[in-house]
Amino acid sequence: MAVAHGPFLAAVLLLVSLGLHCSSPLPACPESCTCQGAPLLNCSSSGLSLVPQHIQDSVTELDLSHNLLDSVKLNRPHQNLRNVWLGNNSITHLSLCIERNLGNHYVRGRHRLRPWGRQGCVSWAPTLHLLSVEWNQLEQLPEGLEGSESLQVLQLSFNKISTLQPGDLSHLRQLKELHLQHNLITSLHPQMFQDLAQLRVLDLSFNMLTSLHPLMYLSLRNIGVDVRLSGNRWQCNCSMRSLRRRMAYDSSRGLKAWSVVCASPSILSGRDLLQLGEDDLNCFSTENRPELHQDVTVYSGSQILLSCSTQGNTVKKVSNVT
Ligand SMILES: *[C@@H]1O[C@H](CO)[C@@H](O)[C@H](O)[C@H]1NC(C)=O
Ligand SMILES: *[C@@H]1O[C@H](CO)[C@@H](O)[C@H](O)[C@H]1NC(C)=O
Ligand SMILES: *[C@@H]1O[C@H](CO)[C@@H](O)[C@H](O)[C@H]1NC(C)=O
Repeated sequence: MAVAHGPFLAAVLLLVSLGLHCSSPLPACPESCTCQGAPLLNCSSSGLSLVPQHIQDSVTELDLSHNLLDSVKLNRPHQNLRNVWLGNNSITHLSLCIERNLGNHYVRGRHRLRPWGRQGCVSWAPTLHLLSVEWNQLEQLPEGLEGSESLQVLQLSFNKISTLQPGDLSHLRQLKELHLQHNLITSLHPQMFQDLAQLRVLDLSFNMLTSLHPLMYLSLRNIGVDVRLSGNRWQCNCSMRSLRRRMAYDSSRGLKAWSVVCASPSILSGRDLLQLGEDDLNCFSTENRPELHQDVTVYSGSQILLSCSTQGNTVKKVSNVT
């Protein structure tokens, strides 16, 4: 008896699935989504708390914005997925890696994909061009971005991202736009963006940045990025002198100036860094006296611009010259 059950069940299941296919005009379209032909699966504003699992291979655009998602789980790579919108959900953590609980490796037909290892993950979106996750609750960059090397636009504004690790983005050699406005970023590694040779737009406005390293300025200026920095907490103290000098020099050569508007000290609040003089940028000691010396680190082979001001700023000592 038991031997006869197997084929019988299989036949019934096959009939049931054939029946479903025949009765539904768009078998691939998950309930409450709109499928405009094969390329776009639009599940925007559909009250979803889970990602639909039957996403066809032909889908190139996936709109899951304005739902109730707190995470996004896909269990296999979607080789044609180009644009993914996840904005206006409640996503706290986003991973582009396929689910781990499928075992040690993912098997598709006869192809066995790389198992999980120290190298990272198998991406569910290996050919992604645009990823939009604005207006969510992200506290860090999406995990597994290195698996989407063709990514061109990364939209992460209006989240709660506070730190970026150097190297997090360095694989994204095609990245053209990075939108991080309205997050909680307090500081940036000076070399964070230096490998992004295609970058055109970097929006860091409305974060909690207090200072900008001259090296970061130089690398982004060399790439020619349109950098947006308004609404931060720029502290215009003596540490900003070399940056200001560099920016003033570039602007005198006709390069478009970056707008760094001081938030503190209160006497400089609202002033543009570039409009300030060397003497405005002070660090006060405990006795409230302007600091008498400033250390300037110069990387070998790079230029240094010193102020010609006669207001008491002179180079007293140059050490460790190699
Ligand atoms: C999905 O549909 C909504 C309206 O239902 C529309 O506003 C949105 O632009 C569509 N998404 C795409 C990617 O076309
Ligand atoms: C997303 O949600 C925010 C906050 O509720 C809202 O201000 C914004 O307009 C929404 N975005 C869109 C495209 O509807
Ligand atoms: C200037 O301000 C920045 C940002 O708050 C701070 O990190 C730095 O230590 C300050 N520089 C000095 C010399 O106090």
